[in-house]
Amino acid sequence: SGGSGGNGDGGSGGDEPVSVGFAQTGSESGWRSANTESMKTAFSADNGFDLTFNAADNDPAAQIAAVRSFINQGVDAIVIAPIVEDGWDDVLQEAADADIPVILEDRTVTASEDLFASWVGLDFHKEGVTAGEWAAETFGDTPTKIVVLEGTTGSAPANERASGFDEAIDGTAIETIDSQTGDFTRDGGKTVMEGFIQKYGIDGIDLLYAHNDDMALGAIEAIEAAGGVPGEDIKIVSIDAVKDGMQALVDGKINYIVECNPLLGELAAGLVTDVLAGTAVEKKNYVEDQSFTQEQAAEVIDSRLY
Ligand code: AHR
Repeated sequence: SGGSGGNGDGGSGGDEPVSVGFAQTGSESGWRSANTESMKTAFSADNGFDLTFNAADNDPAAQIAAVRSFINQGVDAIVIAPIVEDGWDDVLQEAADADIPVILEDRTVTASEDLFASWVGLDFHKEGVTAGEWAAETFGDTPTKIVVLEGTTGSAPANERASGFDEAIDGTAIETIDSQTGDFTRDGGKTVMEGFIQKYGIDGIDLLYAHNDDMALGAIEAIEAAGGVPGEDIKIVSIDAVKDGMQALVDGKINYIVECNPLLGELAAGLVTDVLAGTAVEKKNYVEDQSFTQEQAAEVIDSRLY
């Protein structure tokens, strides 16, 4: 085993690297790529870690199997970006029984908070509220037909971005005419949007709310292929603020983006180090998000880190 960094004193003592199993969701989006890179950099051998990385291709059963294999391996700590919220009780209990601390990053679970040491991520509900408030302010009392591209069914961001948005548009003249999952992928967004356009026509849809930029980018392809002008014929609001999304915002094809910061690696690694050292940590650690109009995106796009 290589590595002999300053963080190596957590679980195994001496100069041994800290072994960490990280169960990533998959590689569904630009956000996810940035998150994976941030995690791999923070949990590098240079920083005293020996990282076992698993990406479950968005299959909840495969992700739970990966966590079980980390437990069997006897890693010092486990980090999980849970694909879905439900179904974690048993395997988290198994980790607890094996005395292996679990840190969650990005997404949350419905299991008892006693079953994980800490979580770091974004306020998905607030992201949905911010997107909905923009829609309410922009369309106000004008009757507006909206379609929604939902994230992965059962995932915390899909659930919370939906409820936050709905809360914010409640009482307005905005009417959700259809809502389907595009699984947080560009292909999914494109296919579902093609279906929406077939069903309602470009003229029958005023606004698209996409739970992430990648689905919005797929939808843009579908709108253009049908002869529509994204950002004008159909206005678009999405979440993430990854490079390609921000470029589409600058280009006028998206109208508003709420940020979801994927650079969680350093914070997650800090939590692992603290938990293994027995240092008290907060159970929930929220990272701040911003949001961008087209003009604001043009100002910041060159300085964006992801
Ligand atoms: O959990 C965060 C979400 O997962 C991001 O918004 C989305 O792009 C990703 O796939």
